[in-house]
Amino acid sequence: MEILEPKQGTYQLEDYSRTRETFDWEQTKEAFSWNKTGNVNIAYETIDRHVDEGRGEKTALYYSDASRDEAYTFQAMKEKTNQAAHVFKDLGVKKGDPVFIFMPRSPELYFALLGAVKAGAVVGPLFEAFMQDAVRARLEDSEAKMIVTTPELVSRIPHEELPHLETILVTGDSSKADEHEKYVSFDEKMKAASTDDSAIEWVDLEDGFVLHYTSGSTGKPKGVYHVHKAMLQQYQTAKWVLDLREDDIYWCTADPGWVTGTSYGIFGPWLYGVTNVVRGGRFSPDDWYATLQNYKVTVWYSAPTAFRMLMAAPKEILEKYDLSSLRHILSVGEPLNPEVVRWGWDVFGLRIHDTWWMTETGAMLICNYPSEPIKPGSMGKPIPGVDASIIDDDGNELGPNEMGNLAIRAGWPAQMRKIWNNEPKFNEYFAIEGWYVSGDTAYKDEDGYFWFQGRNDDVIMTAGERVGPFEIESKLVEHEAIAEAGVIGKPDEIRGHIIKAFVALKDGYEPSDDLQDNIKKFIKSELAAHAVPREIEFKDKLPKTRSGKIMRRVLKAWELDEPTGDLSTMDDA
Ligand code: WTA
Repeated sequence: MEILEPKQGTYQLEDYSRTRETFDWEQTKEAFSWNKTGNVNIAYETIDRHVDEGRGEKTALYYSDASRDEAYTFQAMKEKTNQAAHVFKDLGVKKGDPVFIFMPRSPELYFALLGAVKAGAVVGPLFEAFMQDAVRARLEDSEAKMIVTTPELVSRIPHEELPHLETILVTGDSSKADEHEKYVSFDEKMKAASTDDSAIEWVDLEDGFVLHYTSGSTGKPKGVYHVHKAMLQQYQTAKWVLDLREDDIYWCTADPGWVTGTSYGIFGPWLYGVTNVVRGGRFSPDDWYATLQNYKVTVWYSAPTAFRMLMAAPKEILEKYDLSSLRHILSVGEPLNPEVVRWGWDVFGLRIHDTWWMTETGAMLICNYPSEPIKPGSMGKPIPGVDASIIDDDGNELGPNEMGNLAIRAGWPAQMRKIWNNEPKFNEYFAIEGWYVSGDTAYKDEDGYFWFQGRNDDVIMTAGERVGPFEIESKLVEHEAIAEAGVIGKPDEIRGHIIKAFVALKDGYEPSDDLQDNIKKFIKSELAAHAVPREIEFKDKLPKTRSGKIMRRVLKAWELDEPTGDLSTMDDA
């Protein structure tokens, strides 16, 4: 299986090479109503435009979890998001204000998120697993005045320590809202709000709409700021790469707390006007196959870890379901192993199309296309309208099969416009004139296919989620027993990487299994379940530079039994 040839058929991107030569982003503008009216708002284009164009009765959202099973038309979504926009405006939200959404998946999450965007806010989605410290760090940095949450999650918002935070909208009945003067009942406000569209704020294409906090290898999580203009690329890739058609039933498995769950769980598919499936609750093979079967999903966007978990599940589970509706499968977030592509081919008779992009890039950049051959293990080729290259540290472009920095020619439509309150961080990405440097290492082969080789910083991708070692290390050293901590990603068959922590204990503490458990619980309760180190190794001392920085590089070498390299900067080498 060296190369998987495309199936015969018609595709939204018929001729990749020719489109690369002729395409111009100006062409995409014709898809949007602002091209005629001048009124810009991505949420309007996502929902209301379809009602204007006669698709009001089409199902926009199928939502289900263990206790709910609901459907909403575009007309219903329009009314709900208008109501939410009124709620935010009545409470004083102004264009450009950050509004956070901290909720597990539910229809209300989608109403609130799109309603806030309609009201002109910049939405900060927070993953539901975040605990107090993770929530605090993000609300402090953004200085957000408002957040929407649920009765279950509200206690994780330390509002006494967040002077900027004025209003906490809580879903459900009004009983929670009585508990504190900052608490307001979201449901009561929604009921009282008008469904008319007078709360829609018209904005500029360069105004912000989403602020995704993400992790780097150093420092606190950073707020990646995206603008309404991202819709051009989200729409165009929904067409070319997701290959969407009018009657598709589309399922993106990502949570809107991560960028895939907004760019392709909300905006891409709805800018295109297809029916979007959202399944709440946790992963289980039965539940996922049932979702594919029951909704007759045609296009499915997921991640390698999920595919690997399905692959590892007993075959009998798969055999119970009829998955014949599936037409197109895609993957993102981590390297897609050729074994997984092979499995997809065996069990679905379909190729799994890898896509590469990042929180910072806002939308897909390097992809496989239904009309092009796939080389299993390769991320594919840059979308038309975008140039990608492999460059060395001085910005020289490298030749075929030479490994270097994966870089994108700066200026694509969905590119982040800033890092919230942190210009130096933003500038680091663009330090090489004309290029955005991704932090990934890759090479490009003689046919122009890109091959991922790894991160060249310490960012950990675990089960498709991006975790910064610094945030975990900072939390670990707050534990009473820990003097020093270093965190790395350790390769893992299923999850890509797992989090491994090396810790040195304070005087008076001894390594033990109980202490390990206690440390794991501490991270789980204060940071997030997905940030818990699955392995903890006790050390007398950690390798540090003379300036006191933990050398994760050395920890990794220890872990992998590899040479430690140059230790000249190490203290006490
Ligand atoms: C990694 C997720 C290999 C990469 C949309 C990148 C990938 C980081 C792929 C961004 C892929 C994403 N193959 N690695 N197809 N897609 N990555 O910001 O290291 O959560 O830099 O965005 O995920 O993660 P983020």
